[in-house]
Amino acid sequence: MAIHVDVVGIGPGSPDLITVQAVDVLRAADAFLLVEKRRETRELVEARTAILDRHVGPDWSERAIYVQDAERGVGGDAREHQEEVSAWRAERARRFAAALEGDLGRVAILAWGDPSLYDSTLGVLEDLGRDTGLALEVSVVPGISSIQALAAGHRIGLNRVGGSVQVTTGRRLRDGMPDGAEDVVVMLDPSCAFSEVEEEGVELFWGAYLGTADEILISGPLGEIAAEVEQVRAEAKARKGWMFDTYLLRRR
Ligand SMILES: C[S@@+](CC[C@H](N)C(=O)[O-])C[C@H]1O[C@@H](n2cnc3c(N)ncnc32)[C@H](O)[C@@H]1O
Repeated sequence: MAIHVDVVGIGPGSPDLITVQAVDVLRAADAFLLVEKRRETRELVEARTAILDRHVGPDWSERAIYVQDAERGVGGDAREHQEEVSAWRAERARRFAAALEGDLGRVAILAWGDPSLYDSTLGVLEDLGRDTGLALEVSVVPGISSIQALAAGHRIGLNRVGGSVQVTTGRRLRDGMPDGAEDVVVMLDPSCAFSEVEEEGVELFWGAYLGTADEILISGPLGEIAAEVEQVRAEAKARKGWMFDTYLLRRR
């Protein structure tokens, strides 16, 4: 018998930023598979708990299945990074397979933001189906991504008329602004790669803890505000113990 897994996008961290479809699917779930991340701080776990408390009710925890996340190295160059990600994904797939054994009914997995953007859940489930032969029926519920929350916070569109938008990572931005891209959205940047961009005429729209009560927004010419953003970011990270930020670099 196939196991039905709903991968539910839960938005960028607020119980207000979740869709009606996501709430309906969470309420219909027989079990919740929750990944516990050692390096994540309590607040990130609490954000998921707040969503379930508010939209499912306090008894959700009786149906929770906790999976401890696999440890992941930080990797030096691009090849090492890729190898570490592959090993971590394979280990996560093994842990998911063990957790999904038995007759669980419909299982919901909560994916931060939208499951299609820098989230491993769908890839891990695909590996798992292929490598273990576990029969999975997967459905996906879209969520509001941090990119949408960034654009809303700054009250901007991401593209200019007829233009394109490139989404990339801080790791890739360290090689320079992508050629030909007018608007570049950067995620997963623990080390302020924007401050290494030396090009003139670039605007920065930066946002941290988007969509939550702690949201911080700063925008302006990159050369003029980069140092301020670095300082605000460092202070916020020290205060809260963790940092999630996303930003747009716009060539003028
Ligand atoms: C593993 S990715 C998950 C992205 C997620 N699937 C999404 O749709 O936003 C984590 C990265 O997403 C971004 N992010 C997620 N939530 C955020 C938030 N509330 N505020 C700012 N950035 C956020 C950050 O760039 C962070 O490093």
